[in-house]
Amino acid sequence: MSAHYQRLMKLLEKWPVDKRKTGRDLGEHLRNQLKAVINPTDVTTKVSDNLQKQTESLERLANNVYANKYKRSLTSTATGLTAEQCSQVLSSEFLAYLNDERGFFSKDNEPHKPVLLDKAIEFLEPKPGKVFIDMTFGAGGHSKQLLRAGKGIKVFALDRDPVAHEYAQKLSDEFPGRIIPLLGRFSELPQLLKEQNVKKDTIDGILFDFGCSSMQFDEPDRGFSVSHNGPLDMRMDKGRCKDQVTAADVLARAEEHELIRILRIYGEEKQAKKIARAIVDARAALHKIETTQQLANLVASCLSDTQRVDKLQRPAHSATKTFQALRIFVNNELNEINYGMTLAHRYLKRKGRLVTITFHSLEDTIVKRHINGNVIEGLANPVPLKYSSHDLSYDSDLVESLMDSPWKQLNKHVITPEEGEIAINPRSRSAKLRAAVKVK
Ligand SMILES: C[S@@+](CC[C@H](N)C(=O)[O-])C[C@H]1O[C@@H](n2cnc3c(N)ncnc32)[C@H](O)[C@@H]1O
Repeated sequence: MSAHYQRLMKLLEKWPVDKRKTGRDLGEHLRNQLKAVINPTDVTTKVSDNLQKQTESLERLANNVYANKYKRSLTSTATGLTAEQCSQVLSSEFLAYLNDERGFFSKDNEPHKPVLLDKAIEFLEPKPGKVFIDMTFGAGGHSKQLLRAGKGIKVFALDRDPVAHEYAQKLSDEFPGRIIPLLGRFSELPQLLKEQNVKKDTIDGILFDFGCSSMQFDEPDRGFSVSHNGPLDMRMDKGRCKDQVTAADVLARAEEHELIRILRIYGEEKQAKKIARAIVDARAALHKIETTQQLANLVASCLSDTQRVDKLQRPAHSATKTFQALRIFVNNELNEINYGMTLAHRYLKRKGRLVTITFHSLEDTIVKRHINGNVIEGLANPVPLKYSSHDLSYDSDLVESLMDSPWKQLNKHVITPEEGEIAINPRSRSAKLRAAVKVK
């Protein structure tokens, strides 16, 4: 066990439990979080600078170094610490970091932990002889579980990322003839399935687990992560599609008004104007923005007055939304999702099952509109039909016939991960699962 890790565990052990704050005590919370992500007996040797920094920061807190600077008072947070101390310790980057570090600490060393695994498989109802498409293979967590559910189950494993495709190829050695790796985007699926002689209306179940994999987030060279420094790339396809621009290309070439739209629409970033201006100013001063750290620092410096929290009220990096916006734009993610949903309907047989796992509202809204039948000319419609045009009034029969969905949703409310899953896999925290059956 490494010395740093031992020190960290000791500090947490001696962290005083505040009896008045049952269930809200920071030390207890941290110990639980750590226990969930790290199994102390599995620790080997390597520990990065990041863990060392975190250990030191915990040490300062435990030794009450900030006692004079940040007096514990009625205005302290519910944990008895100041907001600043809390955000230092409980930052989502730190929790994500601990989770990333599982590679060092755990034996199973999964490259990506599948989200809502059991629920997703339950809805897909795998049975011997059934055929599935895993539209987002990643590291194959969901596909493996499907294959294990019965002999003769077959999975077409699609992913646009060559790294994921390699994983699928390896898995096909383990399940010969039962997993068919396909390299491409949703929009390339018709051609790929044609080559496999797969026809419309023939598939039993289709799964989408949208977003990025941990292999993409955790590899600094892919440029997806706000907390790992690397080139600002963000292409899920790596170099597979020669004319695809990188995030750095977008920052270097887009006009200010285009940047504002990208940040506002794809990042839902309220401070889009400020950030776009800072990017354009940096360009004018010949400061190239080519690394994730340069972008993260630039955004943090122009939004320095705001301490951000994520949707679960946890401290988040101020550049998180900017990163999300660029990633969605570079990979044309929303159009892909929209078309992917159309294809799911095309290839599923009647009574075939669809399961989707989304990670933010932009993804979920497109899925929801498809399932509700709110699609006009192949596009998920952003506005309820009856309000879609001020000078057009649809009569209720027409609205009903247009909204007559070819899907029936199986779960009344979206399914979200339980606390235990979130503690083990913080990346699951914003996941929403929908399951539907094709009714026509
Ligand atoms: C969240 S991961 C899936 C993880 C997987 N379910 C597992 O358990 O390992 C999402 C994957 O979808 C892939 N992906 C995203 N958009 C895609 C698209 N339009 N076409 C094909 N693959 C896509 C990404 O490359 C990534 O590997």
